[in-house]
Amino acid sequence: MKDLMKKYLNTFSVSGREGLLAEKIANDLRPFADSVDTDTMGNLIVLKKGKSSEKKLMLAAHMDEIGFVVTYIEESGFLRVSNIGGINAVASAYHKVIFENGTVGVLVVESGTAFGDVAVKKMYVDIGAKNKKEAERKVKIGDCLSVAPELIKLGSNRYAAKAFDDRLACALLAEVARTCEKPAYDTYFVFTVQEEVGCRGSKPAAYAIAPDYAIAVDVTNTGDMIGAQPMAVKLGGGAAIKIKDASVLCSKVVIDGLTALAEEDKIPYQYEVLVAGGTDTSSMQTAGAGSFAGAISIPTRYVHSPVEVVDYKDLEACVSLLKAAVERGLETK
Ligand code: CO
Ligand code: ZN
Repeated sequence: MKDLMKKYLNTFSVSGREGLLAEKIANDLRPFADSVDTDTMGNLIVLKKGKSSEKKLMLAAHMDEIGFVVTYIEESGFLRVSNIGGINAVASAYHKVIFENGTVGVLVVESGTAFGDVAVKKMYVDIGAKNKKEAERKVKIGDCLSVAPELIKLGSNRYAAKAFDDRLACALLAEVARTCEKPAYDTYFVFTVQEEVGCRGSKPAAYAIAPDYAIAVDVTNTGDMIGAQPMAVKLGGGAAIKIKDASVLCSKVVIDGLTALAEEDKIPYQYEVLVAGGTDTSSMQTAGAGSFAGAISIPTRYVHSPVEVVDYKDLEACVSLLKAAVERGLETK
């Protein structure tokens, strides 16, 4: 799975511009799928038929990450930007950034800005252009950019990078799709668009699929950072089974189903109660006539920064748990 993780992290995919990543995932999964489709919004839908087609399971991992869009090009050649999704301005300042067409720049803050006043409207991108004309040869209004990828190994099991939210889940779903036995139900591996701007892609996808069961895979905060709000989730504690976040109260059917599988297979797990932030779980739960919806979360420190930190052991636990759910279903005896 590390190969997938690296490949997907290195692929541009800001909200609304997920096409390059969708294409890579589609190519990786075509040999393992009964069908591969892209819908109008750009969601990638990979179907693996089940032992029984009586029920449908929808899995969701979002392909998009937070980023910026060019709003204005100064005569000096500097680019003004606006945020796409929940940007932490302080965290993204003074980083290398990259555009979809490969243009590289640095994201900086206006001189003389007090630390407490750092905000996206005080930021600009320097792409090394001498003036507006030169800048316009590389970039135009509306082009998107994100922090440039860099995967950093920390200690023996841990990694830091931007956009583990939610490329790790994309790698995880792809890994399960290519290694699982025949699923219990018809299983839709859905790589969604525009989650970071309000779970927009998963809504039409869930409406079209009309799943009976739904599991989102996304990152969750942890309580083990200095200054963190008390929270039971910690790095190295295993797969996090979501109880709730700010957008969803997970179905007991899914919580109990995932817990039973984890207990049976001795997969390390912990329960997640996330007080702020939402996921595609909510769209899947309430689409159409509704579904039994829950989520498996990857414990992640410093979410939405260029140095999100995860423990690879947790990832392996998430893979095992998702695979068990896909192969054996969610009904507890
Ligand atoms: Co996010
Ligand atoms: Zn996410």
